[in-house]
Amino acid sequence: MLTVSNLSKAYPTPLGPLQILDGIHFSLKSGVFMAIIGESGSGKSTLLQLLGTLDQADSGDIFLSDVAIHTLKEKDLAMLRNHDIGFVYQSHHLIPELTALENIMLPLLIQGKNKLYAENKAFNLLTSLGLSERASHIPAHLSGGEAQRVAVARAIITQPKLLLADEPTGNLDETTAHTVFNMIKKTCKDYQIAVIMVTHSKSFAHACDVVYELAHKKLKSIKPKNP
Ligand SMILES: Nc1ncnc2c1ncn2[C@@H]1O[C@H](COP(=O)(O)OP(=O)(O)O)[C@@H](O)[C@H]1O
Ligand SMILES: [Mg+2]
Repeated sequence: MLTVSNLSKAYPTPLGPLQILDGIHFSLKSGVFMAIIGESGSGKSTLLQLLGTLDQADSGDIFLSDVAIHTLKEKDLAMLRNHDIGFVYQSHHLIPELTALENIMLPLLIQGKNKLYAENKAFNLLTSLGLSERASHIPAHLSGGEAQRVAVARAIITQPKLLLADEPTGNLDETTAHTVFNMIKKTCKDYQIAVIMVTHSKSFAHACDVVYELAHKKLKSIKPKNP
């Protein structure tokens, strides 16, 4: 489903190019939950940005369902991001003026779906997450965990092929972090979405199907070992 080969990235700096990723290889099937661990500054967010087509690699190939995304132009990339890739970050990034329901509807409206369809779909998803009573809350009136669950709902409302989550539980207390983690895991399995989650939690990482560590610019398989 997702195949990445020989991906490399350097950032330009006044002292010359700063190599962050060097020859990253991996592949991921639908419905598989992958964790990436690694020290701060090792390049985890950089890798997710490349996979999410928000930044360009210097070299290497990324295939998402046989589409060579490294060759697409910005217009097609924007379409691909809207339809096929969901994003969740450490903070929820919900639009403050919109209700939980409206935030979740937004990606569908951007796709040109009609309002009633979007509203129904978003409400059903909120209900399945046990958040229907929070539908009309603005983000400021949600708890941290609720806001993050709404952010996950917004990321998956379009049933993307790939969900990229960059430390999605990083700002949450332990109990809430577990709720959000379990929700992402259930989503991965129920909708057969390939999920890549960056986490500092060893216990969450080990509860994922596959685990990689990013270190010294390379991605190394930790679980299973040497696949
Ligand atoms: N736009 C940029 N320009 C220059 N250096 C950057 C830029 N973004 C990130 N870096 C550097 O790249 C390295 C990896 O960053 P990042 O991918 O955010 O790491 P992680 O998410 O693993 O903490 C860091 O050393 C950071 O300083
Ligand atoms: Mg990061």
